[in-house]
Amino acid sequence: MEQFAGKFAVVTGAGSGIGRALARRCAKEGMRLALADMHGGRLEALAAQLEQEGATVAPCVLDVADAAAVAQFAAQCAEDFGPPDLLFNNAGILRVGEAWSHTAADWQNLLNVNVMGVVHGLNAFVPLMLAANKPAHIVNTGSVGSLVAAPGMAQYTASKMAVRGISECLLHDLAAAGAPIDVSLLCPGPVLTSIGDELMGLEASATVAEPTEHLMAGQPDFITPDAVADCVFAAIAARTFWIFTHPFSGYLDDMAQAIVDGRNPEYREVQFDRGGA
Ligand SMILES: NC(=O)c1ccc[n+]([C@@H]2O[C@H](COP(=O)([O-])OP(=O)(O)OC[C@H]3O[C@@H](n4cnc5c(N)ncnc54)[C@H](O)[C@@H]3O)[C@@H](O)[C@H]2O)c1
Repeated sequence: MEQFAGKFAVVTGAGSGIGRALARRCAKEGMRLALADMHGGRLEALAAQLEQEGATVAPCVLDVADAAAVAQFAAQCAEDFGPPDLLFNNAGILRVGEAWSHTAADWQNLLNVNVMGVVHGLNAFVPLMLAANKPAHIVNTGSVGSLVAAPGMAQYTASKMAVRGISECLLHDLAAAGAPIDVSLLCPGPVLTSIGDELMGLEASATVAEPTEHLMAGQPDFITPDAVADCVFAAIAARTFWIFTHPFSGYLDDMAQAIVDGRNPEYREVQFDRGGA
């Protein structure tokens, strides 16, 4: 898809960070928008700002872990806008801790958002998109953790590897169904967003701080959410599945070779390819 003006996009986790940048980019491209987030204050602030700039925006406060709420959201979207041309299943949370340190309830909570949130988005919207039988694109937000397991990241890694599996199977299922719907897996490296705020004990505020030069300083691997949105829109235009904001092909080569050679996994920090995004 290369023409976006007048088309319709759905973004979950739109109140902050990457989802917010995607929403703003969609609006800039002249798309109509349905935006979902569980944090109403942030969502309303963004919707008001985009509407002031001339966009058509329908905000919806919901928890992506709630299948009925997402189904209701999709039904409302279908009534107001029709099936989405772009669907961003983006909402996600971060938890850290050793693999044995999370209770079953903690696991369930994280998987309900990061994995079932994507599943609920697909279950609710893909039938509408299939029925429309027009070109469309689904972007599921994974992570570098969709490919790389790091210490202290069992929950998050499990969820993002699941999102990768779901996305690859979705690609194959849509191809087998002859549907004109593309799929991408967004695998961001470090992005300056609010995802770590809760872990640092920070309250979610209604307004989201823009990444300033001051905040970016001293964090050479971090990029802005707007830079992620640029990568995503380039990938949609090029119809590519893998979206790496920080390419790391050398690491992936070594990892694949270790598996082929039967060597045990050994953690070393990912070195991102320089000269990428
Ligand atoms: N920031 C990074 O470095 C990074 C790296 C790799 C992947 N990601 C992924 O990018 C996605 C967006 O994260 P971000 O960094 O922009 O974080 P963020 O916290 O800035 O934004 C996430 C938004 O999702 C919303 N949200 C959280 N749980 C929700 C739920 N259950 N239902 C509805 N909305 C919910 C939050 O209120 C927030 O507005 C996530 O899937 C995350 O895992 C982020």
